[in-house]
Amino acid sequence: MQYRLYHPADFEQLYAIEEACFDGVLRFDRRYMKQLTERASSVTWTAEWTAEEGSRLAGFVIVEWTRMQRGIVAYIQTIEVDPTFRRRSVARELLRLAEGSARQAHATYIWLHVDETNVAAIALYRGCGYKRHGNHPRYYQNSHGAEIYAKPLGKV
Ligand SMILES: CC(C)(COP(=O)(O)OP(=O)(O)OC[C@H]1O[C@@H](n2cnc3c(N)ncnc32)[C@H](O)[C@@H]1OP(=O)(O)O)[C@@H](O)C(=O)NCCC(=O)NCCS
Repeated sequence: MQYRLYHPADFEQLYAIEEACFDGVLRFDRRYMKQLTERASSVTWTAEWTAEEGSRLAGFVIVEWTRMQRGIVAYIQTIEVDPTFRRRSVARELLRLAEGSARQAHATYIWLHVDETNVAAIALYRGCGYKRHGNHPRYYQNSHGAEIYAKPLGKV
């Protein structure tokens, strides 16, 4: 698996992963997804699988950061791995790269929302050192609540 920064030519493959991961009201629309990847204070990392037939995107993460009163804070917009490539540590590595980019942007803290029923993602975040900081009831369009997870980022 190769990990590299996203470029706009990846968009169709990236969006195919969004379609494989989320249905209906939970799916970001194409315009919003494109905007997320284009924001100035954000980085999208991709995981790319190369085989004899060619290469294809296996997963991606989008992290962005904002200056707040207490300093720069990073936020994981989404992390998604194509079902074919799951349980191969792809998300763990993408998260590590996203945290590295956030640190380079001088973020001191990283946080995210995760559907309270999303056992896989919660296990991923906990395993990567994120701690629960509360719940946002009915956060998602399907009325599920969101757990809030966060972790402090060390120095670059
Ligand atoms: C959540 C998701 C990104 C995990 O991707 P992945 O590449 O399969 O995860 P990894 O292989 O890096 O797993 C890292 C750890 O997370 C946990 N984990 C991952 N998938 C899990 C599952 N289905 N059940 C339980 N724990 C799981 C495990 O602790 C795993 O470590 P291990 O394999 O050594 O036991 C993937 O399932 C996915 O894309 N889901 C749909 C999109 C989504 O829900 N994204 C999260 C948005 S908040």
